[in-house]
Order: sequence, then structure tokens, then C-alpha cells
Amino acid sequence: MTQGLLTWATEASEHASQVDLLLTGFSLLVFVLSAPVFVLMALFAIKYRRGKPADRTHPVNRNIWMEISWSIVPFLFIVGVFVWATVLYADLYRPPPDALEISVVAKQWMWKFEHPGGQREIDELHVPANEPVKLTMASQDVIHSLFIPALRLKQDVVPGRYTKMWFTANRPGTYHLACAEFCGTNHSLMGGRFVVLTRADYTRWLEQSDVDGSLADQGAVLFRSHGCSGCHGSSSTVHAPPLEGLYGSPVPLDDGRMVIADEGYIRDSILLPQQDIAAGYPHDMPTFRNVLDEGEVLKLVAYIKSLRKPRVLP
Ligand code: CUA
Repeated sequence: MTQGLLTWATEASEHASQVDLLLTGFSLLVFVLSAPVFVLMALFAIKYRRGKPADRTHPVNRNIWMEISWSIVPFLFIVGVFVWATVLYADLYRPPPDALEISVVAKQWMWKFEHPGGQREIDELHVPANEPVKLTMASQDVIHSLFIPALRLKQDVVPGRYTKMWFTANRPGTYHLACAEFCGTNHSLMGGRFVVLTRADYTRWLEQSDVDGSLADQGAVLFRSHGCSGCHGSSSTVHAPPLEGLYGSPVPLDDGRMVIADEGYIRDSILLPQQDIAAGYPHDMPTFRNVLDEGEVLKLVAYIKSLRKPRVLP
């Protein structure tokens, strides 16, 4: 794709347009605020050049209101830009609750994407247009950074924790995605295609992809094969925290803190079980740090998220 020097790269979301507008606005503001300084500097250099017969007397002539105004007015404009940018930025941390959840595992040197139905792809991400999409991202080794220029979005993918990114793409088409953090020899090859499809095309794409069951179903298989059900299953006699309805609920901890059970909490409970122990339970959970990889943990998280509280019948 060649881009003209003065044209923007393609925008594929409302957020991207907003970011471009902010950058244009800020650039214009900087120009408007700094141009008078440079213009006057040049004019005075010419007018008062050594040897020129200019009037060099310097009568005291102050106008306090003018002096205050040229400090306050630019300051207010800059604060305005700060607020504008902060609102845009804060928006990135509030994914809509109904977003389509796609999990991402980065490793040297590929991107693995997995859709809720279990559809997997490598170095390609297909998403429906005009629907919010939320990425939960984990790294299997070093720090990577998922960069989708058409969305004006970039987020580090860090080992040891989940990072999130969400967007609503609004323009079907094929765009670039890349790794934007130097992560080793083949860093520059760690990229691929970001494909925005209409809802109908996305549904068709999902149907023609091979699946071994949904993400949550695959998580359920792991839950049994790794023995989690031995303690957390409904028929278990071991005193372990029940997982039904856990996701999104507040969890009181042993040390008096209270946390919300989000994806990151569930991940840490599997890999670092001694870190945040639920109040009133023994410290018996073994770590699965060297047993499960990030992709498997994401499946378990999807399974645990799918467990609803059993409905109490009247
Ligand atoms: Cu991964 Cu650079």
C-alpha cells in the first residue's frame, strides 16, 4: 500500500477518525501558537539589524491585561486538548460488556487468535464490522505489541498478565497488523492481516473454519483432564471455592482485600494460586504455571466465565 505524503493512512474505525482529528487539531494549535513568535523574531531581526536607522528608544509601555491574556488564552486551549485526548484515551479502557471476545496469544514470532466458537487463526484476524470486539491478550515469552494502524491502536502484550484492547471497526477491508515491540530475530516478520468483514461474511467465515468445539468447551475438557474438577466440581468433597457465577463478582481475600474476578484474576488464580487466596479457603491449590500454556489458560478462563450460578427453582 502506498500512501501519499499528505494523506492519512486508511481509517477503519470511528476511534481512528477521532485520533486523526485530535492530531490535526493539536498540530494546528501548535502552529497557531508558535507562528507569531517566529514571524516577529524574523521581522525584528530585519527591522533592528545593526546599522539600520530604527527608533531604539524604549519607552515603558505596559498593558497588564494583554500580557495576562497571551498567557491564559493559549493555556486554556492546551488544557482543552488535554481533556479531549484524555476522554479519547479513557474510552479505550471501557470495553462495552456485549463485545465479541477474541483471545490473543503472542509468541516468538506469531500471533494466535481464537474466536469464542473455537475458530483459530495465525497472523490473521477476522472481525465483523460495526460490532465491538474485545481482545484479551497474553504473551507466551517476551513483550510484544499488537499494532493495528488502521484502528490507530497499539497495545503491549506482556508476559505474566493479560492486556486488553477493544474497537469497533466500521469499514470492511483488509489492513495490516504488526508487532510494534522489538522481540527478537524475526520481530519484523511478526505481522499479518487484519480483515474486517460484514456480519454475513463473518458468519460465513466462522462456518467454514475448522473447530474442535467452542473455547469454553475446550476449557471444560482441560478442566477435567487436569483434575480441576476433582476439587472445584459440584460433586467434590474438597473445600474449594465454587466457580459458578464467579466471573465479574467481588471476591473477599484472605488478607482483607476485595477484588473483582476478571480474566486477569482467574488467570493468576490458576498460575499463581498463592498470590490472592479467597477468604475462608485452605491454601491447597497447586500452581499450573509449568503445566498449562497461555492458550490453554485462556480456554480455562473462557470455561470459567461461562459457568453461571445454578438457578434456584422456586
Ligand atoms: Cu513480537 Cu516484535
